[in-house]
Amino acid sequence: MAENQAATTYGNGKGAGATVGIALLGMGTVGAEVFRLIHENAADFAQRIGGPVEVRGVAVSDTSKPRPGVPAELLTTDAHALVQREDVDVVVEVIGGIDYPRELVLAALNAGKSVVTANKALVAAHADELAAAADAAGVDLFFEAAVAAAIPVVGMLRRSLAGDKIKRISGIVNGTTNFILDAMESTGASYEDALAEATRLGYAEADPTADVEGHDAASKAAILASLGFYTRVTFDDVHCEGISSITAADIAAANQAGYSIKLLAICERLEGEDGREYVNARVHPTLVPKEHPLASVNQSYNAIFVEAEAAGSLMFYGNGAGGNPTASAVLGDVVGAARNKVHGGRAPEDNTYAALPLADFGQVSTRYHIDMDVADRTGVLAAISNVFADAGVSLRTVRQEDRGDVARLIVVTHSAREKDLEDIVARLETLADVHAVNSVIRLDNA
Ligand code: HSE
Repeated sequence: MAENQAATTYGNGKGAGATVGIALLGMGTVGAEVFRLIHENAADFAQRIGGPVEVRGVAVSDTSKPRPGVPAELLTTDAHALVQREDVDVVVEVIGGIDYPRELVLAALNAGKSVVTANKALVAAHADELAAAADAAGVDLFFEAAVAAAIPVVGMLRRSLAGDKIKRISGIVNGTTNFILDAMESTGASYEDALAEATRLGYAEADPTADVEGHDAASKAAILASLGFYTRVTFDDVHCEGISSITAADIAAANQAGYSIKLLAICERLEGEDGREYVNARVHPTLVPKEHPLASVNQSYNAIFVEAEAAGSLMFYGNGAGGNPTASAVLGDVVGAARNKVHGGRAPEDNTYAALPLADFGQVSTRYHIDMDVADRTGVLAAISNVFADAGVSLRTVRQEDRGDVARLIVVTHSAREKDLEDIVARLETLADVHAVNSVIRLDNA
């Protein structure tokens, strides 16, 4: 057996017709929908699973809060005791946060319960530890809802494309930032005004940092890269830039050149200077050609574009957040985990056998759109071109707009390494005739 192959400690099934006990941790928007749908669809679930499911308890922080449709005797504040109860087989974690759910999920796995979680931050930070606990106990650990809610990307990577080789995954995996960028593009609004509108409509949270700074997308990128490349990639391994510095002028310039700006999560294989294969995962604002399918993903929708060796290009599109779509993904996993509890077996699916090395962000190659204010004088363009030529970076297009004594210069490069681009920008900023490098935005290579 390969060293890092999952242990094959398959549990015995409870037998057809046996009841599967569920513990629900959290009763927010998602938890309430999960609870409602388990009861509404009980007869169908029993058929699909091979035995009925029954909610044994619901862990909440305040049992006195009114929760219509939830019997008071199911509510408890003692989540630790609930996840270890004899009559619980599957624990559903929809609390959020990292430390507290990590404790509960580990306690559940160690007690032999299968776990279904929607918690991307938890999975992206602690996947190795959680997978080891699930393997040791011979139980399932499922997290379809952690990436893009009901869009079935986790199952697609784990199962549907398990016979293929994934080359690249790029996607819009955060609805809040897509809403903001789309509003900026379609109305000309500033970032601040578009964020205020997203907040007013309930897309952005009171503290929008995790969304607008790209942290939520980075957790999802870590999960997608780990699954796609059979290599552990954690949140800390993902290079992450958000959208808070994108201006209305950036959006207008992109639009004029035939691009939309999207916050993309990009996971790809790349060849290092030593000829070895590496993987990289990153999140940053990206110029996407308007004819690319990801450019037409508007409002708060998500889409994931997968390039696989045999399957070719595939795109998955839909609602990536919200109570109902997230509950749908959670319940799909509940049915899968409950089936295994009834019929036996498990899915040791968090497989990182390939263990590919991670590429430094500086080694990543992409094209760049660089917006500068420069002096409108003879020789300035030549001096700027020399900076790029000296670094071995070729220019694809150069566009100039007159603004009196100052010219706005927009340069698009051919593919160049991040490290070289960083040096170029540092050198441009030392030129007296370059008044400002306003923005550097990457272009998607796909
Ligand atoms: N806040 C996320 C989004 C959903 O805006 O897409 C949960 O990951």
